[in-house]
Amino acid sequence: MPAYTASAPGKIILFGEHAVVYGQPAIAVPLSQVRARAVVTANIPTGQTGGERLASPPTGLSAVIVDAPDISLRTTLADLPAQHPLSRAVLLVFEALHVVKPPSCTVRIHSTIPLASGLGSGAAVSVAVIRALSAFLGHPLPLEQVSALAFEVEVIHHGTPSGIDNSVVTFNKPVFYQQGQPIEILKLPAAFHILVADSGQSSPTAVVVGDVRRGWQADPSGYEAQFTTIGDLSRQARQLIESGSPDSLGPLMFRNHALLSQLDVSSPQLDSLVEAARISGALGAKLSGGGRGGAMIALVQEQDAARVAAALQEAGAAHIIQTTVGRAGKR
Ligand code: MEV
Repeated sequence: MPAYTASAPGKIILFGEHAVVYGQPAIAVPLSQVRARAVVTANIPTGQTGGERLASPPTGLSAVIVDAPDISLRTTLADLPAQHPLSRAVLLVFEALHVVKPPSCTVRIHSTIPLASGLGSGAAVSVAVIRALSAFLGHPLPLEQVSALAFEVEVIHHGTPSGIDNSVVTFNKPVFYQQGQPIEILKLPAAFHILVADSGQSSPTAVVVGDVRRGWQADPSGYEAQFTTIGDLSRQARQLIESGSPDSLGPLMFRNHALLSQLDVSSPQLDSLVEAARISGALGAKLSGGGRGGAMIALVQEQDAARVAAALQEAGAAHIIQTTVGRAGKR
């Protein structure tokens, strides 16, 4: 019995998080060093080989086992709340493919993307599950539909998602994203180097997105002015990236971080990592993703990467990944 496997990368937001929820453009790139993987296999009766063995195969939603050892979860779909992100992802696929009587199967999920750290773990898990399960059911869904279903799951993760995470993770390409517009894949004539450092503080995106929404409700014109300025940074950044001058992005990143701090989505730990990056010679740095914890990114010249990484570690970074955006052959 074949196993149907799909994987999806993590992501980093280079510019525009939070403002993108309010209609401004943002730029995100996949982070392939960390991934979520889903494997779907048919459950078969005890005595046979090649799948998950069950003494008496149950039916209905009890026939579907969801196994996510990373979060110590192993249960049937019937026992998982419908609003659990994994349950939602599976049920959305059944709905999209008009599956009335789910086949007895096991959906196993494993992810190396740290949770609640702004690296797109929720979106990547959803995309991997949706792709593996639809392939198992004999109808691999087109990427647009995978992304649209993953967006539905993002509502559980983010409250009011912009759609950027599911888009970049599904298409696995650098994107310029603006709500209500077709996704634009960025051209990358010149590669650039990014360090991704984990502040070590986990921070659920939904909480931060909710706080920003309350701030915006209390002071709509003040917040919208900030969002517009951030959107302008994303547009300028796109221009620099597509004209082959990514090393000039640094000042825009520091500016974007300062604006995010003013929106109160930074944290002392993120601020000190950004400062450590600046002092040790990074071209630019900012928090990335929901903020208040999670990841920050630093733009570096390749020859400075080790020095900046050491400074970030010294400043308390829990884990550092070096990634090259736009290297020939990588995408
Ligand atoms: C999260 O990766 C990015 C946010 O802008 C939320 C969203 O766009 O859905 C904070």
